[in-house]
Amino acid sequence: MTKAKPVIIDTDPGVDDAFAIMLAAASERLEIVGLCSVDGNVKEEHTARNALDLAEFLSLGCPVARGAAEQLEVPIPERGEHIHGERGMGEVRLPKAAGDFDSRPAWDFIYDKALEYAGELVLIAIGPLTNIALLLQKHPDVKPLIKQLVVMGGSTTRGNRTPFAEFNFWADPPAARLVFESGLNTVMAGLNITLETGVPLSLIDELSERPSRLRGILKEMSEAYSDRAAGFGDVPSSIVHDAVAVFYAAWPELCETRRCEITINTEAGGERWGQSLASCENPARFNAEVIEKIDMERYLALYGEMIDYFA
Ligand code: BDR
Ligand code: CA
Repeated sequence: MTKAKPVIIDTDPGVDDAFAIMLAAASERLEIVGLCSVDGNVKEEHTARNALDLAEFLSLGCPVARGAAEQLEVPIPERGEHIHGERGMGEVRLPKAAGDFDSRPAWDFIYDKALEYAGELVLIAIGPLTNIALLLQKHPDVKPLIKQLVVMGGSTTRGNRTPFAEFNFWADPPAARLVFESGLNTVMAGLNITLETGVPLSLIDELSERPSRLRGILKEMSEAYSDRAAGFGDVPSSIVHDAVAVFYAAWPELCETRRCEITINTEAGGERWGQSLASCENPARFNAEVIEKIDMERYLALYGEMIDYFA
């Protein structure tokens, strides 16, 4: 078996973040070497608490570092409590972790891990990109040490927070712009793929009946999570955006991507604040791989493997 990829998940849990972390934990192709919290779906004090409690509940055995509680330039106009619940995890209250946070802020923690893994570290960023932008500002020499950055955010089609912008980019567009202009080897899991790859509610129901450590929380989380649509196969589905980034990190060969130039609108006060535009004509300007298709059968199978892993 090939060695598992060392990954840090930068996250704002978040119901779909929690699913993504569980899937990553269950994937033998990934080794989670840290979680970092960021302000986003709910305030950072909650995303941090959720990340720490999840890490212990899931026995991840990795440090959890706290990240930015404020955006780079413009405070987030509104968080996502109406989608993820007041504290971010639907109605679920995990047992309070006994352990504590890493003493380093997220950007220093990631930097140290990047040095430790000497060019092998993969970042999976599934919240606003504030921590990653701060990492690049404070430690510009980190770039060659990051093997890949897989981002859930943006869109090549429509938005979800506004008609134009996806939530993670809209929450901190200057951070997203800085990251996409940085030259990091970046892969984007945007709404153009996540809205097409919803997880059937019937599958979540079925899995949450199976004996596992997740039994009590899966259904509760997904019932409280209001990001739903007629997903893949046109059945009622939960849009588990962040899990698509984890799937790519674990199974890139089962995803189709296209190289493009992604630009992010940072015109403060404008109606297109946070909108990402993809232009795929001029190779000299390409700065990201955009995920366009994933192997849905394999992706959904991962959810069953996750239950087995936590059984
Ligand atoms: C993204 O925003 C949040 O609501 C989700 O956790 C996901 O990261 C989707 O737009
Ligand atoms: Ca998220």
